[in-house]
Amino acid sequence: MALDLPRMGMELRSLLTSGGLLELSLQSAPVEPPAADEVVLRVEAAPINPSDLGLLLAGVDMTGAKISGDPAAPVVSAPAAAPVMRAMAARLDRSMPVGNEGAGVVVAAGSSPQAQALLGRTVAVFAGGMYAQYRTVKAQECLVLPADVTAEEGASCFVNPLTALGMVGTMRLEGHSALVHTAAASNLGQMLVKLCRRDGVELVNVVRRPEQAEMLRSLGATHICDSSSERFVDDLTEALTATGATLAFDAVGGGKLAGQILAGMETAILARGGVSERYGSSVHKQVYLYGSLDAGPTQIGRSFGLAWGVGGWLLTFFLKRIGPAQAQALREDVASGLKTTFASHYTRTVSLSGALQPDVIAAYGRRATGEKFLISPWLDQPAG
Ligand SMILES: NC(=O)c1ccc[n+]([C@@H]2O[C@H](COP(=O)([O-])OP(=O)(O)OC[C@H]3O[C@@H](n4cnc5c(N)ncnc54)[C@H](OP(=O)(O)O)[C@@H]3O)[C@@H](O)[C@H]2O)c1
Repeated sequence: MALDLPRMGMELRSLLTSGGLLELSLQSAPVEPPAADEVVLRVEAAPINPSDLGLLLAGVDMTGAKISGDPAAPVVSAPAAAPVMRAMAARLDRSMPVGNEGAGVVVAAGSSPQAQALLGRTVAVFAGGMYAQYRTVKAQECLVLPADVTAEEGASCFVNPLTALGMVGTMRLEGHSALVHTAAASNLGQMLVKLCRRDGVELVNVVRRPEQAEMLRSLGATHICDSSSERFVDDLTEALTATGATLAFDAVGGGKLAGQILAGMETAILARGGVSERYGSSVHKQVYLYGSLDAGPTQIGRSFGLAWGVGGWLLTFFLKRIGPAQAQALREDVASGLKTTFASHYTRTVSLSGALQPDVIAAYGRRATGEKFLISPWLDQPAG
């Protein structure tokens, strides 16, 4: 059990009130003692990913945010527009803990042998509520990090690495032979480039700036199409013809991109000798929308026959689909590649209170290439 486990720790909460105000705050919360099969982590590092921003900021425009309260425990508030209030009806007046994943040291453990074996180990978890100094979780949720991997290096063990592996896994499960990825200069996109090279999978990368194309090329990417180029549609079709990719993962979501990819796939199928019948080729083309970087409507032109699909894709659904044994194998693959294939890089490390400064919120809220933030809950904070 615990040695000197403190009673309270600080945690970051997000509250959308029925009065139309988003409030982000730091609160002192009890440290839950572990049950037999649980451990308590002293959280050392947790990334701010786009999926965390959805819960943290609830789609609220933070440009008019006001900060108040004690500098060590600020409260940031911003008004929520009517469409946000409608979309977020299910969470109104519920103060939510934030932070999907992170890593830390096990400082207390329940009586079960599995929990006891983790005492003192540095582990990563995907348990939610990780923007906190302490977090009590099931022992079986913990991924023990290799001895030479720090909590910072292991903080992003799950969301992006498992999604990259899930894309390749979905490709195999659904009988495709190559992939397309959009917003491909993202942290996840960089991992996917390295993973596809490692596993011999052909990958078409769609970016939106020339410098992003350069960066991916330096990682060894071969097929890169820049949507800001006049040649984009031709380049995309050429890359699809070269690779035969019939499966795309689109993080952008809104706009014409998904439809352009499907159209390019159909042209490529015919260029590779496929036959177009009355309803187009019979080869199935699939785009999974797995992000919402552009929150606008998805516009599909439908110029590519009838053998196609557009759907949603979520990591947790994929992990359920493959079952616990295969999911564990993927987790172990990630743990062994945290310094190489699955390494994440951060622009800035901020404290819990630092994460609530309006200029910092504006910076991570941009979700820009190479600007990932890491929260270190013990930076500038009392021990709770
Ligand atoms: N469905 C799932 O299970 C799942 C799991 C993990 C991740 N994801 C999604 O994966 C995506 C990447 O995550 P990450 O952590 O790797 O992101 P990240 O490192 O923060 O990078 C975000 C990237 O998106 C680009 N971007 C932002 N807005 C864009 C827009 N409107 N159109 C085109 N590109 C845009 C940025 O490029 P600029 O610099 O040009 O802005 C940047 O390269 C996110 O959408 C996330 O939600 C989904």
